[in-house]
Amino acid sequence: MRITVIGTGYVGLVTGTCFAESGNDVICVDIDAEKVARLREGISPIYEPGLSELLVRNIKEGRLQFTTDLTEGMTDSALVFIAVGTPQGDDGAANLNALWAVTDQIRETATEPKIVVVKSTVPVGTNAKVLARLNKESKHVHRAASNPEFLKEGYAIEDFMKPDRVVVGVREPEVAKVLEELHRPFLRTNHPFLSMTPESSEMTKYVANCMLATKISFINEMANLCEALQADINDVRMGIGHDRRIGFQFLHPGVGYGGSCFPKDVRAMIALAEQKGLPAQMLRGVDQINEDQKHVLFHKLTEIFGKEMSGRTIAIWGLAFKPRTDDIREAPSLVLIDHLLKAGAKVRVHDPEARENVKEIYGSRLTYCDRAYGTLEGADALAIVTEWNEFRNPNFDVMKALLERPVIVDGRNLYELDQMRELGFTYHSIGRATVNPEGVS
Ligand code: UDX
Repeated sequence: MRITVIGTGYVGLVTGTCFAESGNDVICVDIDAEKVARLREGISPIYEPGLSELLVRNIKEGRLQFTTDLTEGMTDSALVFIAVGTPQGDDGAANLNALWAVTDQIRETATEPKIVVVKSTVPVGTNAKVLARLNKESKHVHRAASNPEFLKEGYAIEDFMKPDRVVVGVREPEVAKVLEELHRPFLRTNHPFLSMTPESSEMTKYVANCMLATKISFINEMANLCEALQADINDVRMGIGHDRRIGFQFLHPGVGYGGSCFPKDVRAMIALAEQKGLPAQMLRGVDQINEDQKHVLFHKLTEIFGKEMSGRTIAIWGLAFKPRTDDIREAPSLVLIDHLLKAGAKVRVHDPEARENVKEIYGSRLTYCDRAYGTLEGADALAIVTEWNEFRNPNFDVMKALLERPVIVDGRNLYELDQMRELGFTYHSIGRATVNPEGVS
């Protein structure tokens, strides 16, 4: 099949590359000429495991092309995927400007009827508006479908190639058939192709992300309660997770969710509810708990050092909003850094992938360290924000020797309390007892 993908952001690039890998002839369109030039050379604008290899191979084999010219990009392809960004607007709702611009361009430049598939996350009811806009005084009768994306950053290729399910929102059975055929290489037993109305499909995406965000805020609230009540969230997690109705997944307490999806989608759902006069009380709570949770590491540090931190040096391990990505959008690390700088602390940071992105924001106000251990030199405490694997089993003796004081504030519960006690660290984590809590002078 010949396919056009408009937008080479995270979703568009992975979609285009994976469709090319399964044998389709794909052309990706983006207005950013510099990005397109680099993509033509096989250089990915994002860090995503496995993506670069697929990109290079499919370009070389002639199945994957890039252009800034939408007219050229749409020639001969019956299927046009829209994967442009829908960022959060000032009112919390999704900003659809890019989507409307692309829809208008498709209508104006199409030389034959198209099936336009919206992959961007859009408010429920948007697909119907896309359809109306595509066909308004159009020479051709276009069709529109919805096909939300459930990719996790860091696992995007795997998620695309082996999806738990593929969801499409269609009006015509023939359109469902075309999309099923396209996805057939990725479907497996018990990993179905689910066809529904565009409204249900659009809603599915939001409900999935709101559910996952709710699980995280729920466990974070319970973790904070555990701390106050002298219970241990790890034990509690075991105690509840063996109940198969509850399970273990997405119930890791931490420093709050970040990234490009959960915060934006929860707020977009709240905005949609508001438009319909519904209160969305639970989602408001989910959002608020998450905002509060991003401050938790700083509060723990103030318990140790007090609010005034000039003369203190704090080391941070992990800047990306989660491991296996260089993405720092809505990352809890940024909230901690802001607090520390305001309190007058010196901040030394390390992340395997996200240092450059953080440097773009803070410039010379932070010290950027290539190596995890080097970050600790002369620091009064280490704060762990992102659970990269390399932080899971460090040499604690080396850490103790490098740190000015043996203090760890762990936002991801990476270490055992007993071990930290034996090693003589002051160790704060999430929803667990504090080890050797005495303040530091
Ligand atoms: C998410 C959805 O998983 C994906 O289906 C959707 O398409 C886009 O949004 P992503 O943003 O890549 O994907 O990240 P994800 O791995 O889901 O993690 C989101 C955040 O939740 C991270 O900040 C992570 O640290 C946090 N998290 C996750 C927790 O704090 N606890 C958990 O138990 C799980």
